[in-house]
Amino acid sequence: MGRYIALVPAAGSGSRFGAPSPKQYLQLNGKPLMWHTLATLAAVAAIDEVAVVISPQDEWFDGFDWKLPKLAVYRVGGASRAESVCHGLEALAPADDDWVLVHDAARCCLSVAAVERLIATLDNHPVGGLLALPVPDTVKRADSQGQVGATVPRGGLWLAQTPQMFRAGLLSRALRGVAAADITDESSAVERLGSKPLLVEGDAQNFKVTYPRDLALARAILTARKGE
Ligand code: C5P
Repeated sequence: MGRYIALVPAAGSGSRFGAPSPKQYLQLNGKPLMWHTLATLAAVAAIDEVAVVISPQDEWFDGFDWKLPKLAVYRVGGASRAESVCHGLEALAPADDDWVLVHDAARCCLSVAAVERLIATLDNHPVGGLLALPVPDTVKRADSQGQVGATVPRGGLWLAQTPQMFRAGLLSRALRGVAAADITDESSAVERLGSKPLLVEGDAQNFKVTYPRDLALARAILTARKGE
């Protein structure tokens, strides 16, 4: 039976956030934001290793006391998310049938239950899959003037989240040779091989902290969870 490895690309600079340090290191309830992400993954019993990929030039990681079980750090991040994941896979050198769960560092409100649901649903699946959410709102496509160009029927539309879980062999093959710039998630690389990843329903709390206004929501979710 393959191992389960969580791979967290965390080599981004968080330019949309606009803080002096990358958003994964911002303080959130007394810890760096990414600590919450890594702690949740480490708390999933099935996961054997939590591998975080940081930039070789990272000046922040060593300044914190992470104190988490299963955590391994790889200083091999690249110029894009896909490159960071690729380099992480090369450094980890997993067996082809190991499962790799790639998860955004900035999705810090991930729950253990959602990861367990993903793992249980994909057990025996030939391809793998991802957490995602059916689009709840009416969807508009903008024209070049910022006006409504069209209303897009939302039936069958899902918002991709992470973790995205694939066998290591398939994921490495999928990411090898793709133009990293147009790959924003692992699923799209796997889809290009003609495979069909399974959509597993996630939850809205598993959002990606992208802008400063998102921090208050993340703080509220994590605080509420602590009190449960
Ligand atoms: O920029 P975005 O939020 O889409 O990044 C998604 C994830 O990919 C983040 O966890 C970020 O740190 C990571 N990333 C990376 N290497 C890069 C760019 C982004 O590991 N060069």
